[in-house]
Amino acid sequence: MPDSPCPPLVRVEPLGQSFEAPDSLTILEAAGFANLHLPRSCRNGTCRTCLCKMLSGSVRYTIEWPGLSREEKAEGYILPCVAIAETDVVIETEGARTLPLREA
Ligand code: FES
Repeated sequence: MPDSPCPPLVRVEPLGQSFEAPDSLTILEAAGFANLHLPRSCRNGTCRTCLCKMLSGSVRYTIEWPGLSREEKAEGYILPCVAIAETDVVIETEGARTLPLREA
């Protein structure tokens, strides 16, 4: 079967919002394009402000050593600011909110 041209979908729970996360963007960046605010600070994988749980799916990282312990990784925690969705992903973060749409 040929690869689907559609980028992976990321769903944010408990907000229930989904957005496309192309390979060229981190999950945090893709959320921003979709008018979704996720907790963040450093955006380079060190401060852990964006830490959240991945309920399903898989990601890869833009940096070699994201600030996660082996245990956290095993429990499914990810850092969306340096994570790229490889498949459809569901994450759980209490701090997500929809940004108001700008008036045209
Ligand atoms: S925003 Fe700092 S680790 Fe993701």
